[in-house]
Amino acid sequence: MSKKVLITGGAGFIGHTMAKYFASKGLEVKTFDLFQPPKTVGEHIVGTIMFPDELYKAMKGCDYVVHLAAVLGVARTENQRLKCLNVNTLGTINVLDAAVKAGIKKIVLSSSSEVYGEPAKTPISEDDKTFPKSVYAVSKLAGEEYVKAYHQTHGLDYSIVRFFNVYGPGQVAEFVLPKFIRAAMIGTPPIINGDGKQVRSFCYVDDAVEGVYLALTSKEANGHVFNIGNDRAATSMLDLANKVTASAGKNNLGVEFVKEEHADRKNAREIINRIPDISKARRILGYEPKITLDEGIARTIASGHIPESWTEQA
Ligand SMILES: NC(=O)c1ccc[n+]([C@@H]2O[C@H](COP(=O)([O-])OP(=O)(O)OC[C@H]3O[C@@H](n4cnc5c(N)ncnc54)[C@H](O)[C@@H]3O)[C@@H](O)[C@H]2O)c1
Repeated sequence: MSKKVLITGGAGFIGHTMAKYFASKGLEVKTFDLFQPPKTVGEHIVGTIMFPDELYKAMKGCDYVVHLAAVLGVARTENQRLKCLNVNTLGTINVLDAAVKAGIKKIVLSSSSEVYGEPAKTPISEDDKTFPKSVYAVSKLAGEEYVKAYHQTHGLDYSIVRFFNVYGPGQVAEFVLPKFIRAAMIGTPPIINGDGKQVRSFCYVDDAVEGVYLALTSKEANGHVFNIGNDRAATSMLDLANKVTASAGKNNLGVEFVKEEHADRKNAREIINRIPDISKARRILGYEPKITLDEGIARTIASGHIPESWTEQA
């Protein structure tokens, strides 16, 4: 019989792609979110992770949970710090309580490369120290610690995935890559914070959800933290902006620079250089990202689906 998985945040950017991918792999998929997904895959439940009873009802009869529901985004989480802490920390505890009550066999928690802060070395590996710089990063690290605590106290099996700059169709233009694409699509120059020398390595969403699938379905992955990203797609923000305008056929737009103090990611939260070491995921999961940055940018532009921002709910 096929295994049944509940994806919290299953109507979101990563969650929706994940639901489709999991279904294609023969898993029975159920999604849970504040909002309706663009297209329902399996059963969808509208609900909040702040209500444990709703979660328990949704999880009953499931084998696995992937917990993606969260409040994210640089400006958004700084402007709504309490909401970020509440949803990402208390919400995660609710998910864990419901998972224990519903007899879930394994949970995968989505964490973030933000837990590393400014990486002490490049590429950064799971064994390196965490130095979170923001409320969001602390909330994700707290979620990780709670998952480990529930394993100790309730024997709940888990894997933790730390996503590194995931992008693709459906991601809101609050993140740098979709922001550049959206600007190029509407014919305005991409706006670069600071000098544009910051480096990130971008991971196409299809590769990221495959990484989660491998972590979810591998027994060897139990109890481990994995960097899930693409180590071969590193670029400076200036090069990225130029790549995007070229791919959109809009080289004539050029780029625009804004001083860091006017940017949404202020100096104190800026990360200069972040590239994942994914050798652990390669070794234990057989994970291998396949989509090049050029290909991913082209696919995202072709989708034409880049919402401006999130729909907020109290
Ligand atoms: N996109 C990235 O590059 C990235 C990087 C690191 C970590 N992550 C993590 O991956 C996960 C998914 O991120 P995403 O990029 O798909 O973001 P997203 O905002 O598109 O998805 C999050 C989903 O959670 C839902 N949600 C928020 N609060 C909820 C609540 N109280 N109850 C139920 N649902 C709620 C939202 O409605 C949304 O659909 C998050 O946990 C995020 O922290 C993402």
